[in-house]
Amino acid sequence: MNERASQSMTDSSVRIVEVGPRDGLQNEKTIVPTATKIALIDRLSAAGHRSIEVTSFVSPKWIPQLADAAEVYLGIQKHEGIDYPVLVPNLQGYERALAAGVREVAVFTAASDAFNRKNINATVDESIERFLPILERARNDGVKVRGYVSTVLGCPYQGEVEVRDVVRIAKRIFELGCYEVSLGDTIGIGTPTKARAMLRAVADEVPMGALAVHFHDTRGQALANVFACVEDGVRVVDAAVAGLGGCPYANGATGNVASEDVVYMLHGMGYMTGIDLDALVATGQWISAELGRENGAKLGRALAPAAVRA
Ligand code: HMG
Ligand code: MG
Repeated sequence: MNERASQSMTDSSVRIVEVGPRDGLQNEKTIVPTATKIALIDRLSAAGHRSIEVTSFVSPKWIPQLADAAEVYLGIQKHEGIDYPVLVPNLQGYERALAAGVREVAVFTAASDAFNRKNINATVDESIERFLPILERARNDGVKVRGYVSTVLGCPYQGEVEVRDVVRIAKRIFELGCYEVSLGDTIGIGTPTKARAMLRAVADEVPMGALAVHFHDTRGQALANVFACVEDGVRVVDAAVAGLGGCPYANGATGNVASEDVVYMLHGMGYMTGIDLDALVATGQWISAELGRENGAKLGRALAPAAVRA
């Protein structure tokens, strides 16, 4: 592990990147009212999140659920000290986001061409080519750019993914200017030992302080994977309230690791997140009721709503 990695291991706070409004809602079949999306984000801000991924400025033909991206972004209350990133797949998405006043975007690619073609109709190299004008524009506009690498522990179409491919792509998008690279187990196939080995390999080339982990819980491994990676020094964890989530272009990808369960575990381990767990649990219970689905957070199911709000 490099020097930056061992430094970040002593840091006792973890930043949660709340991806529920984007990764969570993008997978909902029934269109969620814009007002509900805005209320969700406002509640997450009030619960103490410092980073909330609001929506995606992708093609509405590909993700109809997020066709109201601009209305949602314009409708939320923005607070000092909270970042509100959005996903953009190309320059067209970047321009739509900028017109709405966005100050941070996330670009996304994968460690496997097969998934990337299904998800954004481009190979990995082609998608990185599309990032270049976004990164250049963002530099001039003073907009922060986060980067995602998907399928880091396996691909729904290709199967096995080589760690060296993950390392190469993470390093490339970091060097191109992404301030942080989120490593995504899109289909929730990894186990802690594999997740840790992948993280260590990437951290040999990209500073640990610039890495985040993003686990889907398809096989019940997500919280264990987060634990292993936090033990190894990562201090940014993507998670979704109520365990919402999934990618419509990744067969079998279900919810993200639940923010409530991650925060409960981290607080229990002595880490600070700045998040009010009661408020977060109440938000997870509220959005589950709004969507008419079972709460994907174990904590949200364990605590009675009244007890949480008391
Ligand atoms: P394409 O069809 O190849 O695009 O899709 P195109 O450039 O040929 O354009 C086709 C049409 O789309 C045109 O409209 C464009 O104007 C329009 P038409 O002339 O036919 O009327 N278009 C757009 N409209 C609005 N906003 C835009 C935009 N771009 C083109 N930005 C494209 C390529 C990338 C656009 C499409 O594949 C797409 O939007 N894909 C997004 C899929 C997606 O959002 N997937 C989920 C997010 S990734 C994820 O969940 C993984 C992650 O969570 C990490 C993990 O878990 O691993 C991040
Ligand atoms: Mg995801």
